[in-house]
Amino acid sequence: MSESRSIDARAVDGEARGVDATQCGGARVVLQACDVRKYYQLDEIEVRALRGVSMSICEGEMLSIMGPSGSGKSTLMHIIGLLDRPSEGSVTIEGEEVSHMTPNELSAVRNKRIGFVFQSFNLLARTTALANVELPLVYAGLSGAKRSRIAREALERVGLGDRLGHYSNQLSGGQQQRVAIARALVTSPSIVLADEPTGNLDSRSGIEVMAILQDLNAHGSTVALVTHDANVSAHAQRVVHLKDGLVEREEHVENPVVAASQLAALDAEGGDRA
Ligand SMILES: Nc1ncnc2c1ncn2[C@@H]1O[C@H](COP(=O)(O)OP(=O)(O)OP(=O)(O)O)[C@@H](O)[C@H]1O
Ligand SMILES: [Mg+2]
Repeated sequence: MSESRSIDARAVDGEARGVDATQCGGARVVLQACDVRKYYQLDEIEVRALRGVSMSICEGEMLSIMGPSGSGKSTLMHIIGLLDRPSEGSVTIEGEEVSHMTPNELSAVRNKRIGFVFQSFNLLARTTALANVELPLVYAGLSGAKRSRIAREALERVGLGDRLGHYSNQLSGGQQQRVAIARALVTSPSIVLADEPTGNLDSRSGIEVMAILQDLNAHGSTVALVTHDANVSAHAQRVVHLKDGLVEREEHVENPVVAASQLAALDAEGGDRA
């Protein structure tokens, strides 16, 4: 009797602190998706892109959401990134349930808590790397000098301190993605979400991007990425496998592949620097 009471008390206490013992093992839950469903109506046909997905993102982890094409990865990413709303189910970020928020409230939470990296970079063309990275800080209302300093530091952090004045179209794909990562970082978000961040890159640039994401994670950022590629997922500490709009299984990666070591090995081989 007293034992069951103490277990209940722990559970309640855990819930109050946003702890999900099942997935985060005592770490704080940054984001929780609960029974998320997404249906699209196409003429007479209802497409069930997500059919009841529950998952957590834990503070400080590097998580991969993996699955074949059409399994619902981007749909899930857009919902947890607050770019889209679920048909049913809830999303909670830092303990705040977002379902009932107005579009303005949602974009405020998104701007403050989420850094998004897209497969296709989504940088403004004919705009410098520095101005692209400053943009979220414009929305956040920071002064020009402060914006510029924070954006410069973020670009230095992704190894582009010497490309501040380059326009997007004067940068390689890998460099553009690094600008996009810098842009995702400048607001110090709770989570960096990346949808196929290496999908449009050659293999070396892809590993460079993974090295940056791993470095951010090593310095405390929570990172969740979506991929269909097991080689990319191997860099994460935990993999949530999606299939047909459902979580098929979850996997803890004992020894994630270290992208910096892969780069060092490529350099030692005198590998392709394309
Ligand atoms: N706007 C939409 N209208 C109708 N159906 C959609 C829409 N967006 C996605 N779908 C459908 O939902 C399912 C999941 O799509 P989603 O883009 O999430 O897959 P994915 O796992 O990201 O695939 P990929 O690896 O090819 O990017 C697919 O069957 C897709 O056709
Ligand atoms: Mg997709």
